[in-house]
Amino acid sequence: MSPSSRREFLSDSFFLAALTAAAVATPSQVMAGTSKGKPSADKLRIGVIGLNGRGKAHVDGYVSNPNAEVVAICDIDLRTAEKAAAAVATKTGKKPKVYQDLRKLYEDKDIDAVSAALPIHWHSLAGIWAMQAGKDAYIEKPVSHNVSEGRRLSEAMVRYNKICQTGTQSRSHKAIKDAIAYIHSGKIGKVEVSRGLCYKPRKSIGMMADSVAPAEVDYDTWLGPAPKRAYNANRYLYNWHWHWDYGAGDLGNQGIHQMDIARWALGKSVLPNKVHSVGGRFGYSDQGETPNTVVTTYEYGDQTLVFEVRGLDTPEYTGVSIGNIVYGSEGYVVFSSNYAVALAFDKAGNQVQKFSGGGDHFGNFVKAARNRDTAALNAPIVEGHLSSALCHLGNISYRLGEPAVPAKELTGLLASNKHGAEAVVRYREHLKANNVDTANAMGRLGRVITIDPKKESITGDAEAASMLTRPYRTGFAVPSKI
Ligand SMILES: NC(=O)c1ccc[n+]([C@@H]2O[C@H](COP(=O)([O-])OP(=O)(O)OC[C@H]3O[C@@H](n4cnc5c(N)ncnc54)[C@H](O)[C@@H]3O)[C@@H](O)[C@H]2O)c1
Repeated sequence: MSPSSRREFLSDSFFLAALTAAAVATPSQVMAGTSKGKPSADKLRIGVIGLNGRGKAHVDGYVSNPNAEVVAICDIDLRTAEKAAAAVATKTGKKPKVYQDLRKLYEDKDIDAVSAALPIHWHSLAGIWAMQAGKDAYIEKPVSHNVSEGRRLSEAMVRYNKICQTGTQSRSHKAIKDAIAYIHSGKIGKVEVSRGLCYKPRKSIGMMADSVAPAEVDYDTWLGPAPKRAYNANRYLYNWHWHWDYGAGDLGNQGIHQMDIARWALGKSVLPNKVHSVGGRFGYSDQGETPNTVVTTYEYGDQTLVFEVRGLDTPEYTGVSIGNIVYGSEGYVVFSSNYAVALAFDKAGNQVQKFSGGGDHFGNFVKAARNRDTAALNAPIVEGHLSSALCHLGNISYRLGEPAVPAKELTGLLASNKHGAEAVVRYREHLKANNVDTANAMGRLGRVITIDPKKESITGDAEAASMLTRPYRTGFAVPSKI
């Protein structure tokens, strides 16, 4: 670590010390800290940041909204920015301003809100800077690269009294909202386990040598808060998801959508008491660092959340490959990757209810921002923080793990949770079906992480606790105090 980044890291350690001293606010407390302002009759003037993939959906979501206008585009790759600006011009007849540096966009007083679809190591900082500059912010999922910066992002919404939404769009879908309300009203009885599945085959990303970034790319700003390192196309567009410095694996990529539904279904507005992961990167040898197969168990006392990521070939589980199954004492509810449908079943497996209907998540953000009404947000940033934090905690457990000796994998604390243990048994069968030599290679047995949910701190494990934040590069540090 360079001296300057060590300095940034030290200041962040102070933040962690502060964290352990005070209780963090629950979503309802966070929302109570914001106040309603005067509605605006004007269109919301939006700057979209990060346009290679998801950012294009942001643009489409706003240009089709009569109450919004895309007035600026920003991408560290000028080719991407110009292309996106031209696409807006074609759709609206008006070319937005083009920025390469998001700091310059934040200085632009003609912009009311930013909408960011960036690699996740940038999300919290982009959101905090936006709100400090007086702008509302729509921040893609996951909202953070580590637990503590996500909390600080949530605090910024209150401190600056801004509208800040996260990009888990299923929160705006009628089918999902109605199914969750059905669960919360007790229709499936007492919920014991909430299961999230991300069965999404992922191919090897291969190996690539470091090279020189294209001339149109501001690579130093792309790195932002992450350590300085040579450019490599295999860590750049999209594949950054599979590198710890920038991504959070599929748990924090596709998985965060299902993680959010799983936690929402449980009605949990704090972190769990205990987290444990078992997983590995199986089936190929490549440059990716994150596991492509992992089972993570989250213990909330009398309730459990079990999350499964499978990146190798796999059949569905209970008819689901990407989705959720929430089990109650009287029945269960199934969510698929079609966020416009959810189904409820009784204990005998008879379908008793169908929930249907989509929603406009970008429209929800625009409406809340124009009405200056934080309470109208379907996915306030603090909810995004809590679900993102679950992904990061699972990754901390995995990263601190040791090779999983087959005989060991069902012993110890994991075995004390029957739902987690059951998923690990299926994990082993799944690996065998993919010709993984499970007698010798079961992946990594994660460390058990014990959490103080009131403080969002990790107890009794300084190494794990240090991973609640990261060393930030000078100029790109998430402020220690909001
Ligand atoms: N809600 C959803 O359904 C959904 C779907 C896909 C992706 N996402 C999320 O959207 C985000 C972006 O994903 P993607 O697949 O488009 O990634 P990507 O790597 O393909 O694109 C990111 C873009 O951001 C630009 N960029 C990076 N750092 C920047 C910076 N500091 N300032 C300006 N531009 C910068 C890059 O040049 C690139 O064009 C991720 O967080 C992802 O999780 C959400």
